[in-house]
Amino acid sequence: MITRPLGSSLQVSALGLGCMGMSDMYGPADRTESIATVHAALDAGITLLDTGDFYGMGHNELLLREALQGRAREKALLSVKFGAMRDPAGGWVGFDGRPAAVKNFLTYSLRRLGTDYVDIYRIARVDPTVPIEDTVGAIADMIKAGYVRHVGLSEAGAETIRRAHAVHPVADLQIEYSLLSRGIEAEILPTTRALGIGITAYGVLSRGLISGHWNKEQAMAPGDFRAFSPRFQAGNIDHNLTLVEALRGIAQEKGLTVAPIAIAWVLSRGQDIVPLVGARRRDRLTEALQSLDVQLTPDDLARIERAVPPGAAAGDRYHASMMAHLDSERRSAHQA
Ligand SMILES: NC(=O)c1ccc[n+]([C@@H]2O[C@H](COP(=O)([O-])OP(=O)(O)OC[C@H]3O[C@@H](n4cnc5c(N)ncnc54)[C@H](OP(=O)(O)O)[C@@H]3O)[C@@H](O)[C@H]2O)c1
Repeated sequence: MITRPLGSSLQVSALGLGCMGMSDMYGPADRTESIATVHAALDAGITLLDTGDFYGMGHNELLLREALQGRAREKALLSVKFGAMRDPAGGWVGFDGRPAAVKNFLTYSLRRLGTDYVDIYRIARVDPTVPIEDTVGAIADMIKAGYVRHVGLSEAGAETIRRAHAVHPVADLQIEYSLLSRGIEAEILPTTRALGIGITAYGVLSRGLISGHWNKEQAMAPGDFRAFSPRFQAGNIDHNLTLVEALRGIAQEKGLTVAPIAIAWVLSRGQDIVPLVGARRRDRLTEALQSLDVQLTPDDLARIERAVPPGAAAGDRYHASMMAHLDSERRSAHQA
């Protein structure tokens, strides 16, 4: 497995496994198959496992604990998000980045994960009521105390990234980046590059939309994120699936399916970018891993960009109520 740097002192597998869908957001997942998928990822050389304490309200961390039993702790890099608060029905009730909350969230995560340290710790959404300096300062305290190894950020904008990095070096920014979501290219990516911060890219298959497996008749379980996601809605989905068919044509000429091409495109965008793949099953993981062997020539890249140019997607990447929580979507002061 080839590796890529995240920040100045961390080297991770070029693909990470995002474990969210094993507990939340995309309908029911098979527990045994989820654990087998984590094992298959580790056996294939994937070292980066991404989770959040709120994915299934602790379910995802307990699942990872079970999956990692009998494995050497240092073989897996655990990237954990915190700060998103849920109610007993699974509703989203806000974000908490206060220093005391950071330490409390971490304490429970360590216990659920069955470990004495987390490799990368990050707030899922910047808490607008707490200066980022305070939230990151609390993580830095936990680094000094030995409970955390690296600071990460999630969906932060350029100004917040600079402020956070001034408090403690940031290893990576986790943010959506794919052929359909290219917003980071204008200001955020130049900022992380100037500061030497890596990107862990999520939604590289746009939540399955550009996996090549999605069809508009697909049934969605209650609570499936995609039932509310603008890009999956009537009026947008037909257009978005025509983009997938254009990609499929290019993939087929190379003897591939769509997902490896879409992931390989993200890999091609820079050595500082590590795609997180949201595979919940071993067959999906196997398909995603093929992206590591895909050679995209300049001609291939030009064809892919013509098939799916920037801004080609119909619909925003989140419902408006969720877009409002994205610090990354706020215009920074000098842009305004
Ligand atoms: N920081 C943040 O705000 C944030 C937000 C979202 C996610 N994340 C992290 O990023 C990870 C990945 O995000 P995502 O779920 O949006 O990823 P994604 O890879 O864009 O989409 C995953 C969906 O695509 C389907 N899929 C179809 N073919 C696939 C293939 N070959 N490989 C992988 N998936 C395939 C998946 O499985 P099925 O076909 O089985 O449904 C799943 O429904 C999450 O698990 C989470 O750790 C972070």
